[in-house]
Amino acid sequence: MTGYVRRMRDQGRSPASSAVEQNVYKVFPNDLNAERTVFGGLVMGLCDRTALIVAERHSGHVCVTAAADSFQFLAPARTGDTLLLKASVNRSWRSSMEIGVRVAAEDTRTRETRHVVSAYFTFVALDDDGRPTDVPSVLPDTEAEERRFRDAQRRREGRLAMRTPR
Ligand SMILES: CC(C)(COP(=O)(O)OP(=O)(O)OC[C@H]1O[C@@H](n2cnc3c(N)ncnc32)[C@H](O)[C@@H]1OP(=O)(O)O)[C@@H](O)C(=O)NCCC(=O)NCCS
Repeated sequence: MTGYVRRMRDQGRSPASSAVEQNVYKVFPNDLNAERTVFGGLVMGLCDRTALIVAERHSGHVCVTAAADSFQFLAPARTGDTLLLKASVNRSWRSSMEIGVRVAAEDTRTRETRHVVSAYFTFVALDDDGRPTDVPSVLPDTEAEERRFRDAQRRREGRLAMRTPR
């Protein structure tokens, strides 16, 4: 393990240090459903991949998706739009982290954007043997980060209450 990775794991980390500010995806006709709007499963996959980057940056470990919730599709995206994805870590516990993702669709010609979907992902960091392992704390810096940090605890309690035993 390098000195950088060790320091990163020992200390708490700000959401900004692992955030994905903008992941872009240009929509083409093969991304559409029968309604000719973007297939929701494609957007969910893009959200999962973007959130994974945040979880691995924050933890310094390989991570897996444990849960995805609160998907609310607010507006459709269409062919020619560009999807703009943002993701950051809200809170971490022992081995798990909540990552929030927001997707907007941009009409590239007018630069107008619409909020398409937001969601929360729970990722679990794994050690070299594939077992859940400790992750750094989240140290919120801004008011918005503090609010997300507080709200994440309530959401975790809801999720764990619904958890299906293995
Ligand atoms: C997620 C997984 C690693 C949890 O492993 P486990 O042996 O049940 O371990 P634990 O019970 O110790 O849970 C580990 C952490 O995950 C959290 N967790 C597990 N299931 C969860 C759920 N449904 N929602 C929220 N958190 C969950 C636990 O709260 C715990 O968090 P903490 O350490 O921060 O307190 C395991 O269930 C798994 O491998 N699932 C499949 C993951 C996968 O393949 N994802 C891709 C799907 S294609």
